[in-house]
Amino acid sequence: MKPADADQLTLTLEPMGKRVDVAPKTTVLQAAQEAGVDVMAVCGGMGTCGMCKVYSVSGKFSPVSLIEQEQLTAADLNKGLRLACEAQVLSHCTVLFPPETLATLQRLQLEGMQTATTPEPCVVRLKVDLSGISKSELDRAVDRILAEVHNTHGSVITFSDHLIPQLSKLLEENELELSLAVNDREIISVLPPDSRLVGYAVDIGTTKIAGFLVDLTTGQTLASVGATNPQIAYGEDIINRIKFANENPQGGKILQAILVQTVNSILEELRLLGNVSRDQIVDAVMVGNTAIHHMLLGLPVKPLGTAPYQTPATQSMVIHARDIGIMIAEGASIYLPPNIASFIGGDHVAMLLSTEARNRGGTILAVDIGTNTEISLINNNRHYSCSCASGPAFEGAHIREGMRAIPGAIEKMLIDGEVTKVKTIQNKPAIGICGSGVLDAVAELRRERLIDARGSWNRDDPRITMRGGKSQFVLVDAKGSGHGRDIAIDRNDINQIQLAKAAIRSGIEVLLQHAQTAADEVNLVLLAGAFGTYIDVHNAVEIGMFPRIPLERFQQVGNAAGSGARAMLISTASRRAAEQLVGQIEYIELMTEGNYTDIFMKAISFD
Ligand code: FES
Repeated sequence: MKPADADQLTLTLEPMGKRVDVAPKTTVLQAAQEAGVDVMAVCGGMGTCGMCKVYSVSGKFSPVSLIEQEQLTAADLNKGLRLACEAQVLSHCTVLFPPETLATLQRLQLEGMQTATTPEPCVVRLKVDLSGISKSELDRAVDRILAEVHNTHGSVITFSDHLIPQLSKLLEENELELSLAVNDREIISVLPPDSRLVGYAVDIGTTKIAGFLVDLTTGQTLASVGATNPQIAYGEDIINRIKFANENPQGGKILQAILVQTVNSILEELRLLGNVSRDQIVDAVMVGNTAIHHMLLGLPVKPLGTAPYQTPATQSMVIHARDIGIMIAEGASIYLPPNIASFIGGDHVAMLLSTEARNRGGTILAVDIGTNTEISLINNNRHYSCSCASGPAFEGAHIREGMRAIPGAIEKMLIDGEVTKVKTIQNKPAIGICGSGVLDAVAELRRERLIDARGSWNRDDPRITMRGGKSQFVLVDAKGSGHGRDIAIDRNDINQIQLAKAAIRSGIEVLLQHAQTAADEVNLVLLAGAFGTYIDVHNAVEIGMFPRIPLERFQQVGNAAGSGARAMLISTASRRAAEQLVGQIEYIELMTEGNYTDIFMKAISFD
């Protein structure tokens, strides 16, 4: 993106995806405040509170100041941390604010449709009572335990050395009674007799991560926490992250490390909320798109982003959590469901599982909208899936006044004659527009005939104004906004929405074509993902993102991938169902469809 004038520099503020044009030597804090981003700056930028920490991701900043050397540790500085009030912008730059630096957090959709799943976990509890043995026999406790487990469990079980120190301590503290967490191969954890057995389910999206702590015996969700995927600083979409991994010798390692770090931070927060120890977390399930899956495991991602788009790992996997540094019980494993293809992964499988899309009968369209959108069409016992690069526009990126869904973002808007009404998240003064707001704005502009079917302005309408030689429509003027500048939408913004909605619509059309069925034959449209939850479906149909299917056939199901991950966490049957399901899917690669370009070009129009 080019700066507005030659002297201006563009600073990209992540994770909110906000771009600001600033003069050289502007501090990151000044830029963030000007953009309406609430940064923790208790000392008002004096360099004394140390709260405005920010990662310098790319570009040139002023050298580390003496104040920063005092406030930050050598380890902080090595990680690229700076103080926002000290670091000055000297070129086009990107920074990433860690969650603790932001006073307001992004709205994340954690909950989703969940069908009842009977708990039947992989890891079960075995109570052991050694109260019959004398204290002198305690040295043989491991033998006694293994014999008892063998009797009740009937299979060969290993007992890792790391559990031995814990074992003696717990036997002494609990009058020779214990609970063991056991899977079919291994004793994973040794716990006090009545400890809850808990699992960790994680849905890792391109932009957001949702983590859940679940009681493995009852299936109850004990706590849920969301965070922004920190990889965003290395590429807003997956293609750019794959590029980063390929072009930098340590790229893959960096992407893996920051992801693992965030998955562990979410876990820490969940442990505090759920009041459970690390040893109690004896199983985990992680779902994500195929590239995220590979990055998490440290697998090569190059084949995913290069023709002929091979997928190194499609099978379901069980790995030791400790092998990738996930801080659950030392002996615990992580289950990862199978991937479908290079751009359609276990998160879509999880979504299909939790919504029971395949068991509903009739023709079902299941759409998980994100930076990458996965679509399934189930018709006449056939199941077609494709993935489309809808891009980050629905996250507010590449939109001039766009931002992610944080307080103050316009999430809904309506044009009523001369008056424009907006609704912001948490009713805070408007500082930008998030995805659902931009979609509403484009639908309203079209309804009011302020733009034509191609997205071009009707310049005869006095509501269209000019700024810097470009036509625009002002949603909130400078007086009414939270940062003292107009919030407007321009032709480029409309174009970004056209591209994003055309990507989704053309994916749907290709699948309908394969199924040889028409849109009005679709009985149910399941819309998943945060954006899918908050959009006005009527407006989405109006701008042509979806075919003209009656609105009552749409169902917004929230974070269904997270629900599917939880189902697979508590149920081995759900894991097997996920594996079977993948075998029945016919993956359609859009780029190899002969008439794809024609379908896409048609889908760009607002007709
Ligand atoms: Fe306090 Fe930067 S605002 S140190």
